[in-house]
Amino acid sequence: MDNLYRQVILDHSAHPHHHGKLDDSTNQIELKNPTCGDVLQLDVKVKDNKIADIAFSGYGCTISQASASMMTDAVMNKDIDTAEDMVEDFSNMILGEKTDTDILDDAATLKGVSQFPARIKCATLAWKALHKALNKK
Ligand code: FES
Ligand code: FES
Repeated sequence: MDNLYRQVILDHSAHPHHHGKLDDSTNQIELKNPTCGDVLQLDVKVKDNKIADIAFSGYGCTISQASASMMTDAVMNKDIDTAEDMVEDFSNMILGEKTDTDILDDAATLKGVSQFPARIKCATLAWKALHKALNKK
């Protein structure tokens, strides 16, 4: 498991970025990881077709919390299309497919999760939540 829990992952999990709630979110979602019951809440503020602010809360394992923290860093201030591309790239990476991970920032360090199928849902939870939040009518 050495590769899975690299320092950068542990740091994000111990000190998650953009953790909490937004007072002025435009899009919110709560998503459960069906395999473990852990829950993630995501608040997004979309302004001028950009992610102007984002915050997450809830509870989950090291991988899910680190991934949520990394996701919020990666998509902050990005336009919606770019954020959606990132969701797709992240998902492809986690499934072990070839993809452009340069834009994913710290989240690219979760690549090793692709070798642990049981943890894939932990890593993708926050990214799925973002996709759902952005497409919520
Ligand atoms: Fe704001 Fe990471 S805590 S960019
Ligand atoms: Fe629940 Fe990872 S074990 S999110």
